[in-house]
Amino acid sequence: MKRIAILTSGGDGPGLNACIRAVTRTALKQGAEVFGVRRGYTGLVQNAIFQLESRDVGGILGKGGTILGTARCPEFKDIKVRRTALRHLNQQGIEGLVVVGGNGSLTGAVVLHEMDFPTIGIPASIDNDIDKTDIAVGVDTTLNTILEAVDRIKDTASSHQRAFLVEVMGRNCGYLALQSGLAGGAELILVPEIPGPSLEEIAQEVVDTYVRGKGHCIMLIAEGWQPGTRAVEEYLLSRQGELGFDVRVTVLGYLQRGGRPSVFDRTLGTRMGAAAAEALLSGQSGQMTALKAGQIIFVPLAEAVQQLKPLSRNLLKLVELMD
Ligand code: ADP
Ligand code: F6P
Ligand code: MG
Repeated sequence: MKRIAILTSGGDGPGLNACIRAVTRTALKQGAEVFGVRRGYTGLVQNAIFQLESRDVGGILGKGGTILGTARCPEFKDIKVRRTALRHLNQQGIEGLVVVGGNGSLTGAVVLHEMDFPTIGIPASIDNDIDKTDIAVGVDTTLNTILEAVDRIKDTASSHQRAFLVEVMGRNCGYLALQSGLAGGAELILVPEIPGPSLEEIAQEVVDTYVRGKGHCIMLIAEGWQPGTRAVEEYLLSRQGELGFDVRVTVLGYLQRGGRPSVFDRTLGTRMGAAAAEALLSGQSGQMTALKAGQIIFVPLAEAVQQLKPLSRNLLKLVELMD
């Protein structure tokens, strides 16, 4: 294989540029030609494919976002649209593709592999919902961003004796809330994987926190948790007089996605990018790079996208212990 392409797809996150740089430079060093695809699968469909040289990926390691652009491209689920995409790759003589993205993007990669187009995936999503890898590219930086916000909010919460509802991203996965709640010393963590507690139980928890003499009550709420942050806010406000604390809400939103990647994400992106390029050039397909016990390994893409990554039992136990 002598000509490969790379695309970034789905939600952006820190460390995508490290992946692009590593795939490009590793493949160039092996004598291959490398092509970048703009805006994820949309660029394949629109034939927005251009050649990448080593200098094109210089100076990007410390930048958030993705120099290739990214997109959600729902029409890619349609086989006719994917055939158009493959025709564009074939016209340029491109023989293999590296897909960098979340569980949705990697599902697209499985389908391309099943259409006999050599494809390797790199897990990159702030949600850390991709199974079969300990962590995805972008998660570490996002957690640090969330923690900085939580620490700041705690200053205000303690100064004013307030209960704060802090909503974090994660789509249907509670990992960001759980991990940042643990590291941020939250009083309560609400994740979609664990149903409940009821609004009444949450109010009781706030009262208990006050009675125990704490100066604040920080609650980390995953965006996928039901009935949702606003429902908790409304309920707590309806019982404001009994709580002891004033109630405030902060939805962290898109602050969590951008920004300079951490050392960990730059390194993980570089390791996974280099491994992905080597695998593709040596003829592998349908595999995803994964971090397991500190080592980069390969797992079948189809297995990685079969289910969302379950929350770690050990992490859950640790949260209980710290209560
Ligand atoms: P992420 O990759 O961050 O999880 P999405 O779930 O939005 O983000 O998926 C990104 C893109 O991956 C989708 O917009 C679509 O282009 C592609 N994709 C997702 N699921 C499929 C599928 N079943 N078949 C083909 N492409 C898919
Ligand atoms: O998958 C990353 C993520 O930021 C999720 O946490 C969030 O639910 C979603 O993307 C938001 O998507 P969009 O950028 O399309 O609003
Ligand atoms: Mg996803």
